[in-house]
Amino acid sequence: MTVTNSQSGTNVHEVSSGIYRISTPVPPSLIPGGFTFNQYLLVDEAPLLFHTGPRSMFPLVREAVAHVLGDVARLRYVGFSHIESDECGSMNDFLAVAPRAEVLCSRVAAMTSADLADRPPRALADGEEVSLGKKRVRWLDATHLPHNWECGYLFESSTRTLLCGDIFTHGGSDLPALTESELIGPAEATWKAMPDSVAIVGNTRQLLDKLAATEPTTLAVMHGSAFRGDGHGLLCGLAAALGV
Ligand SMILES: [Fe+2]
Ligand SMILES: [Fe+2]
Repeated sequence: MTVTNSQSGTNVHEVSSGIYRISTPVPPSLIPGGFTFNQYLLVDEAPLLFHTGPRSMFPLVREAVAHVLGDVARLRYVGFSHIESDECGSMNDFLAVAPRAEVLCSRVAAMTSADLADRPPRALADGEEVSLGKKRVRWLDATHLPHNWECGYLFESSTRTLLCGDIFTHGGSDLPALTESELIGPAEATWKAMPDSVAIVGNTRQLLDKLAATEPTTLAVMHGSAFRGDGHGLLCGLAAALGV
């Protein structure tokens, strides 16, 4: 793990081959229990940043991206799961410093909110793939899982990494970058503390099954530690814990 900003503690850790977790911890004095905001940088011929972090963290995330890529202008894609400030708050800041960068999002996000982006986003259909070079990402629609109509995820097939956003969100600011311990307990504690942050709708089980069917070996969690191991089992376990 490399600390890229000693003041904030922002750090970078390669969680699977060529996929870097950029993490900024927020101490318990600011968010009860502590919290982390993670973005994932996929390094390839066409580098992709999944999630931008909130606008206030843009200098920190840009610094970390530059640490890995050498030049932020190399960014080709900026993707996000759903529209909230931590997912896409500094989307336009990245578009400004990376002139070739294109926003990747769901068709619903493009339909409802393309106006937020300074350049037209590229809307991905469920199952649509984008080549980054050696890596390949597939968009997976996941409406309301765990929240927002436009929600969806990316799966990188060469490393079997599921960029799973807010699924498995868990608190704490002093966590390992990557864990092999199950995350259902920590995630359950977080959603019980904020019960309305997780929407249970008619197809929640089918969506979790669809994500589990990718058989991920790394779960790139947005808040908390990333997970390495049986991602299928963990997603099915989450469905059971949610009672769906
Ligand atoms: Fe969210
Ligand atoms: Fe989030």
